[in-house]
Amino acid sequence: MRKLLVIGSGGREHALTWALLHSAKVTHVYVAPGNGGTATMDHVTNVAISDPAELAKFAQDNDIYLTVVGPEAPLAAGVVDVFQARGLRIFGPTQACAQLESSKDYAKAFMQRHGIPTAAYSTFTDPAQAHAYIDQHGAPIVIKADGLAAGKGVVVAATLAEAHAAVDSMLGDGSLGAAGARVVIEACLLGEEASFIVMADGKHILALASSQDHKRLGDGDQGPNTGGMGAYSPAPVVSPTIHERIMREVIEPTIAGMAADGLPYTGFLYAGVMIGDGTDDTRSINVLEFNCRMGDPETQPILMRLKSDLLDALDAAVDGKLDQVKLDWDPRTALGVVMASAGYPAKARTGDVITDTGTGTDNKDAVVFHAGTTLTDHQLLTSGGRVLCVTAMGDTVERARQNAYARLKQIKFDGAQYRTDIAWRALKR
Ligand code: AMP
Ligand code: GLY
Repeated sequence: MRKLLVIGSGGREHALTWALLHSAKVTHVYVAPGNGGTATMDHVTNVAISDPAELAKFAQDNDIYLTVVGPEAPLAAGVVDVFQARGLRIFGPTQACAQLESSKDYAKAFMQRHGIPTAAYSTFTDPAQAHAYIDQHGAPIVIKADGLAAGKGVVVAATLAEAHAAVDSMLGDGSLGAAGARVVIEACLLGEEASFIVMADGKHILALASSQDHKRLGDGDQGPNTGGMGAYSPAPVVSPTIHERIMREVIEPTIAGMAADGLPYTGFLYAGVMIGDGTDDTRSINVLEFNCRMGDPETQPILMRLKSDLLDALDAAVDGKLDQVKLDWDPRTALGVVMASAGYPAKARTGDVITDTGTGTDNKDAVVFHAGTTLTDHQLLTSGGRVLCVTAMGDTVERARQNAYARLKQIKFDGAQYRTDIAWRALKR
């Protein structure tokens, strides 16, 4: 009879909570701070704590069996180190390991050192040198703020003017603060992206199901970059051959490299990869980014397909026994569509009333995971950019898509934005 703590407030954390409650061993999940979705779940309590030391004290005082961390910010702040120092069970990378996400320069140097394929790059603090590098290499070119920038730190510049402007705004006006004080400039890669997420225990690796995100706000991959507007699992581009190659060429050298560097990596590890054109044996595979956590919205469809007990896997990971776990997946497709608020991603409006005419109907094929919602005086209001991720299963990609959009149409709030073409790449195949 176990009580767990989930740290975070997004759709990923709602999905983690939902999946953990399927374990017969779990009696209660606390979510810090949680959202309007977790607020209404049975056997779940939201707790308004964010400071790592206070979270550890909460875990101790409330006899929490295991803590799992959703987002990058608490990991980069060292929440895992704080818990481990008190002998508390927590799944996630230490602050030092989380640098794989919290510093793009660290991640690029790491990949170069360990022979992990990634785009050629250079790092700059001096704007004049950055501008000169851009002129030398030409466009398209990619400019990345070194630090965590909540999804706003990457500019894929199609023209020299855009590239120079990105450098000016990151290194020049300090709009991203310390995160932008250094920039990585790298070659622009072409191909199809996939999200490849694994669990690691320092030594062993357990791959989760593949998925594909949709980063741009609009249909046809148009408009500004966002945190992700929808995802589905599995991603057909990750064939068995590509899966095996990503493990061998990217994931295994990364976990071995971290261990060799004296930083054994425990936690979820997300490799965003670009898969070039060609046959599966010859297509290029390059790492676009590492995240030291699960993806959002990828987690929602991935966990909808998980048939195994998630707590068992987390438990084994914390004990260094991931080699003893095998995960079973529902062979069907799961597909999630994000509903975002008016103004997202530039400036999200909050406080809109959410109505859901489908609530209470028993639709096992669809789950509405909440992100930027709050339950205020029994009313559900928008409270952030990405508000909901409506996720559904289907025997085919097309069916999963129909089921997700059918459920989505039952939900209304002023200014809602969503894409109508999630999984277009899979359907085009
Ligand atoms: P990141 O946060 O590094 O994943 O970057 C966000 C998005 O920018 C990625 O998902 C890609 O769509 C795009 N991106 C990042 N790096 C590159 C690159 N080198 N070439 C092309 N697109 C990129
Ligand atoms: N959906 C992309 C991410 O979580 O970083």
